[in-house]
Amino acid sequence: MRLDGRTVVVGLSGGIACYKACEVVRLLVGAGARVPVIMTAGAQQFVTPLTLQTLSGQPVATDTFNLTQESEIGHIRLADAAECLLIAPATANVLAKLATGIADDLLTTVMLATRARVVLAPAMNVHMWEHPVVQENLARLVARGARVVGPATGALACGYEGAGRLADPADIFEEVSAALVPQDLAGEHVLVSAGPTQEPVDPVRYLSNRSSGKMGYALARVARRRGAVVTLVSGPVGLPPPPGVQLVTIATAAEMADAVEAALAPATVVVMCAAVADYRPRRPSARKMKKTPGTLTLELEPTRDILAGLGARKGQRLLV
Ligand SMILES: Cc1cc2nc3c(=O)[nH]c(=O)nc-3n(C[C@H](O)[C@H](O)[C@H](O)COP(=O)(O)O)c2cc1C
Repeated sequence: MRLDGRTVVVGLSGGIACYKACEVVRLLVGAGARVPVIMTAGAQQFVTPLTLQTLSGQPVATDTFNLTQESEIGHIRLADAAECLLIAPATANVLAKLATGIADDLLTTVMLATRARVVLAPAMNVHMWEHPVVQENLARLVARGARVVGPATGALACGYEGAGRLADPADIFEEVSAALVPQDLAGEHVLVSAGPTQEPVDPVRYLSNRSSGKMGYALARVARRRGAVVTLVSGPVGLPPPPGVQLVTIATAAEMADAVEAALAPATVVVMCAAVADYRPRRPSARKMKKTPGTLTLELEPTRDILAGLGARKGQRLLV
């Protein structure tokens, strides 16, 4: 999504993931956003203001009481200019301060002074993340309207495995984009099908088609960005799942039909853009078929017609 003319203030607090936040700033700037950066004293232990200033093309704000910064940048001007305030990484410390209204440095002061939408990307050690006080603080911030992206699960810089990794920069970018668009699909539940199906011929061969899944994935991404709850039923594709979308993966037309059926009840909008096979081999071989001289005839039978089945159960749903 392009962000030309939009202002996203990015705050970095003191975690090892600061180096990844540099990539987030780069993505936002690359999409055309104006990206003033605020760094806590802790953040400056991990990356330098010079790095962020170079990436953002803006002076970096670090100090509430610096005469030059206050006259040239100004904490209230920063707070007012922000359409979205992203904190990435958000430390346990900064979450606690935001939850309780402490404003003892520039980032937390701007956070209190802004009316902008807030996106938090927490990153920390798994035990810190699981600590009840961190979860309570986060719940308070969410209840006040903050959007949270991540943390992701995996190997952590501290040597532990678990939840606590900063979300992928592309996922953080997506969450900021969502914070900047009207949530006109809030309350809708959109069910999207995407990609091809694969109909087995034998355990190693299948009949399929060239569907990339790109259209369904793009629709799912945009619907979620605009506030919908999204279920994406997808055949085998080489695309990363859109963040925040419930992904159900299937291979065959029969599995697609079952998955769509199972996800239908809560859906208010159904968009079928999967390229579902019309036919499948009548008797797939249980073993790898051997090459034999001469031609090979495969007998095909029709697959279940998902659209016809949906038509019968459409109800009040918008069916595309
Ligand atoms: C090497 C190192 C890595 C750290 N990584 C994190 C981290 O990923 N998340 C976190 O919440 N705190 C982390 N901390 C602790 C914070 O830096 C510390 O709580 C600090 O007071 C945060 O200040 P700030 O929130 O104002 O930036 C780390 C500390 C050190 C020394």
